[in-house]
Amino acid sequence: MTSTQEFARKTALVTGAASGIGLEVARRLAEAGAAVVVADYNEQGAKETAEAIVAAGGKAEAVRVDVTDPESVRAAVDFTFQKFGGLHLAVNNAGIAGASAPTGEYGIEDWQRVIDTNLNGVFYSLRYELPLILASGGGSVVNMSSILGTNGFAGSPAYSAAKHAVVGLTKTAAVEYASRGIRVNAVAPGFIDTPLLSGGDQEKRDYLVSLHPQGRLGTAEEVAELTLFLLSDRASFVNGSYHLVDGGYAAR
Ligand SMILES: NC(=O)c1ccc[n+]([C@@H]2O[C@H](COP(=O)([O-])OP(=O)(O)OC[C@H]3O[C@@H](n4cnc5c(N)ncnc54)[C@H](O)[C@@H]3O)[C@@H](O)[C@H]2O)c1
Repeated sequence: MTSTQEFARKTALVTGAASGIGLEVARRLAEAGAAVVVADYNEQGAKETAEAIVAAGGKAEAVRVDVTDPESVRAAVDFTFQKFGGLHLAVNNAGIAGASAPTGEYGIEDWQRVIDTNLNGVFYSLRYELPLILASGGGSVVNMSSILGTNGFAGSPAYSAAKHAVVGLTKTAAVEYASRGIRVNAVAPGFIDTPLLSGGDQEKRDYLVSLHPQGRLGTAEEVAELTLFLLSDRASFVNGSYHLVDGGYAAR
């Protein structure tokens, strides 16, 4: 464990924490002293992540959650509050890439699945987290948006629409809870080298790389770094805003 225990006595819930960005955020939060609930619909992956955190000397529990199901989200949030006696930090990160097709050909079920996961999942999470964060004396929330939260992307109408909507949800919740000790921000990664991108071939990967002026994809560590800053008291006056970590993608 590091000597920086800036999240000591804090309890955190991270959705989508069995893989990629969520896993790295959960690992780092625990390293910095938080008690972390690793929530994912990949139950085995969540268990392995929590076990690895505990083996490294951190505090963690795994819980299965399907963020498309409000009752499942409610149960995971309640579990976190009860298990560790509070809820201070939440990272609403679970997401899927979804199918790729032009808007005029996009499958209705594909649309619903992406909106259910990437937008409704964030709302259900906030819906059940915010009252318990209030009851715990305040805290900080990060919603995982994307550069596609402000940009379109051919073939990803549902993903882009959901990630734009997450920004609106973030701003609204921030305005509502600012005076009661809760900050809510959105993180907007460029294309990040995680299993989410695993479907593509080398040509697609090269194309994605070419969109980033830094000439590479980002890493989960780089997204976790920004996320932990926003969760921390170092970001005490940062609220309701959208934070790029994109190697210059949106600056072109
Ligand atoms: N990788 C990128 O290029 C990129 C870019 C911008 C934004 N993001 C966003 O970052 C977040 C994390 O993505 P990642 O790249 O780490 O992907 P990932 O596939 O490595 O991890 C996503 C995790 O979410 C979980 N998940 C998916 N649907 C779920 C559901 N219904 N309920 C519970 N868990 C569910 C998966 O099991 C997985 O463990 C997502 O919201 C994604 O949209 C990723």
